[in-house]
Amino acid sequence: MPTASVRDVALRAGVSVGTVSNVLNRPDRVSPDAVDRVQRAIDELGYVRNDAARQLRAGRSSTIGLVVLDVSNPFFAEVARGAQEEAAGHGFTVVLGNSDENDAREDDYLDLFEKQRIHGVLISPNGDVEERLRRLRSRGTPAVLVDRRSEDASVSSVAVDDIAGGRLAVEHLVQAGRRRIAYVGGPLTIRQVTDRLEGARLAAAAGGAALEVVEVSSLSVLEGRRAGEHLAARPAGERPDAIFAANDLVAVGLLQALVMQRSLRVPEDVALVGYDDIDFASTAVVPLTSIRQPSRLIGETAVQILLEEAEDPGRPPQEVVFQPELIARASSAAR
Ligand code: RIB
Repeated sequence: MPTASVRDVALRAGVSVGTVSNVLNRPDRVSPDAVDRVQRAIDELGYVRNDAARQLRAGRSSTIGLVVLDVSNPFFAEVARGAQEEAAGHGFTVVLGNSDENDAREDDYLDLFEKQRIHGVLISPNGDVEERLRRLRSRGTPAVLVDRRSEDASVSSVAVDDIAGGRLAVEHLVQAGRRRIAYVGGPLTIRQVTDRLEGARLAAAAGGAALEVVEVSSLSVLEGRRAGEHLAARPAGERPDAIFAANDLVAVGLLQALVMQRSLRVPEDVALVGYDDIDFASTAVVPLTSIRQPSRLIGETAVQILLEEAEDPGRPPQEVVFQPELIARASSAAR
């Protein structure tokens, strides 16, 4: 038997659909007689209200949308965990979307979240979404950039100073006596990748080291491994004596390739530094030096800012920037 609709209830009770809606949402505005007739029709028809539809009409749902670049990256898993724990503490649920560094997929999630009248959106963007987020905000859906600073501070953001992180990594390698450094990262359309490179360039110039850029198509273990095989195959005089990877997944792939190339030793021949300090870093076959981001704290803080904006839409955007931390391990020990 198909479920009864609001219209069926109205017909059975002899009232308008609007009266049924008022009985369900604002009974104080309806005569007691009409309330009784509608309630009797609901009971007789077994009508069940559509909670999603009610949430859509009544305003914001209790759901927060989080779109990340790569759900398989443990960094974003930690960000999501921090966001979920903070949201749950306020009675909200986080729905996770994975853009896989794809603009179209990212747009689809933003479309879906807006249609669902979601409470707010957290996004680690692949493309340039700030104009879209400003429009969302103007239509009542607050949004916070995660792991990315706003270009013009028009959207709230929580991020790490990736320029400082890149500088920390290469200063550490220069201090370890390395002078031919490669930066392996990409695509160079991702702001985190280019900011880390900018910091690396600053430190290399200050330390009198050469910096070569090896661009990869994605920040993955596989791309890191491919880049490592390419670098390991070079004649000794053309090989870098250190590599700074744009994130730990790339670094783990590089390490696999370098270790498989039996003639090369990490760190003696090639030092290696990653970024994020995911769990795999400390347990890698050569414990990986990495630039730590406060991943969970990023997620928690983004939710706090989002809830504040939802409560007070008129408040100016907030920008929170955390400082990265160098976690030195065996993969970059001085010769
Ligand atoms: O996915 C892109 C990278 O940026 C992640 O590894 C993490 O470092 C984020 O900041």
